[in-house]
Amino acid sequence: MSRETVGLNAHHAALARAERFVELAVREGKHDPLRPQIHFTAPAYWINDPNGLIHFRDEYHLFYQFYPYGNRWGSMHWGHAKSKDMVHWEHLPIALAPSEEYDLHERGGCFSGSAVDDNGVLSLLYTGTVIRDGVLCQTQCLATSRDGITFDKYAGNPVIAAPPEDGSADFRDPKVWKHEGIWYMVLGSGKDGIGKALLYRSPDLRKWDYAGVLAESDGTLGYMWECPDFFPVGEKYVLMFSPMGMGEHKTVYLVGEMDYATGKFAWDKMGDTDIGYDYYAPQSFLDASGRRIIIAWLNAWDWMPWFKDFSPPAVTEWCGSMSIPRVVELDARGYLSFKPIEEMRTLRKHHYQSEPFHVKPGEPKALTGIAETPLEIAISFRLRDTLATGFGLALRGSEDGARQTLIEYDPVSRELRFDRSRSDGWSEGVRSVRLTHADDEQLTLHIFIDTSNIELLTDNYTTAMTFNVYPDPTDRSMYVYASGDSIVVDSLDIWQLTREVSGGI
Ligand code: FRU
Repeated sequence: MSRETVGLNAHHAALARAERFVELAVREGKHDPLRPQIHFTAPAYWINDPNGLIHFRDEYHLFYQFYPYGNRWGSMHWGHAKSKDMVHWEHLPIALAPSEEYDLHERGGCFSGSAVDDNGVLSLLYTGTVIRDGVLCQTQCLATSRDGITFDKYAGNPVIAAPPEDGSADFRDPKVWKHEGIWYMVLGSGKDGIGKALLYRSPDLRKWDYAGVLAESDGTLGYMWECPDFFPVGEKYVLMFSPMGMGEHKTVYLVGEMDYATGKFAWDKMGDTDIGYDYYAPQSFLDASGRRIIIAWLNAWDWMPWFKDFSPPAVTEWCGSMSIPRVVELDARGYLSFKPIEEMRTLRKHHYQSEPFHVKPGEPKALTGIAETPLEIAISFRLRDTLATGFGLALRGSEDGARQTLIEYDPVSRELRFDRSRSDGWSEGVRSVRLTHADDEQLTLHIFIDTSNIELLTDNYTTAMTFNVYPDPTDRSMYVYASGDSIVVDSLDIWQLTREVSGGI
């Protein structure tokens, strides 16, 4: 602890209290068969956004929005875990707890932010919440650590006390990076119905100067941009964010050019980072070999008329998980692709591989052999020479067929549909997306099926769809079906994956 840091007793007491609560939950909690196995979850209770993703001293660190007192959102802490491979995670003590006037508010706490390595000091920038003139206001704060485990809050907090004229009380989620010796921070905000990304500069992470609006909505991109992230990919820059008020688009990206002299980002391409219902607030970082990787929270805030709660009432000991890490690259057409990290292959246990086969209308082909979750499936359907009006996969089906999740493709309209309306008696919604980059010869689906979620990647990895589903653990039937005409499956690989990558209840 140095003279630079404060609130130590209050902060450390708040951390110790939260730790005790979580330990008790882990000790007394019973194993929940719906708890994800190949996706990161907290030791117990609620998580939302990934925060502070960083490769620091040969290890990956994942911090996350954490409520250690129950399976719902509450005053935010930063949970913490580390990993050698981004696949297997070891839980660490909670890193940040609300304790100071600037981050103690019960509707706030330590909100989302990011981590940087400042000459060997692991530095976290996060959003705190204060009441000013009766209004809830957000501020930006700093906490540092020399060992990468114990964090102290900076005595000069908040490092940014109030939003600029261009912003509003919604002013949060700092993402920080260094460019040519200067620290930059992008913050999410919105004003008069226009979502914005605001830019700041600093020589030392402590003194910040406002540098203007990096980019803003043209009126169609939502009223508030949560969790903005800004990073180079190839020759281009990418601004990724989770817009509020943009309907079914929960996390989008813009590709364009950055002008550091003016602080302006000019974009000309836009896409969905993931078009499923349960993928939000992705954050990026660079791994040891220079890959740009994103991890997201597998849920999203209420936005659908049929929204009920974050998980079915049967789920009590945990709520929320993190996505599989995805590598972000620019494809030949200037859009982004999202590939699961290769390290995921280390989880493969049993392998089932099929010769090519035909599936006729009315004669679905059951996939037997390996069916226990978690599973990884790679399947390629031949698009040439078929007059099928639809074909697809039924997953996580019950014996009687009452419950199942459908992934169906219409080769004429090129629409891919994810239908979870019969998944579990609780989840709802059918999501369709038109594949634009699709290969004309084949449709390839790469799917990760966990106990209570499905990540689907397709269209040369330019389309991702992620959904939570909560079928009974015994719902294991899977089959391929076709309508209108038969379809050829050119290749099918199924791997059963090893379970338990992050422990917990
Ligand atoms: C996004 C978000 C952030 C905020 C955090 C609070 O999911 O709303 O904007 O910092 O969650 O937990």
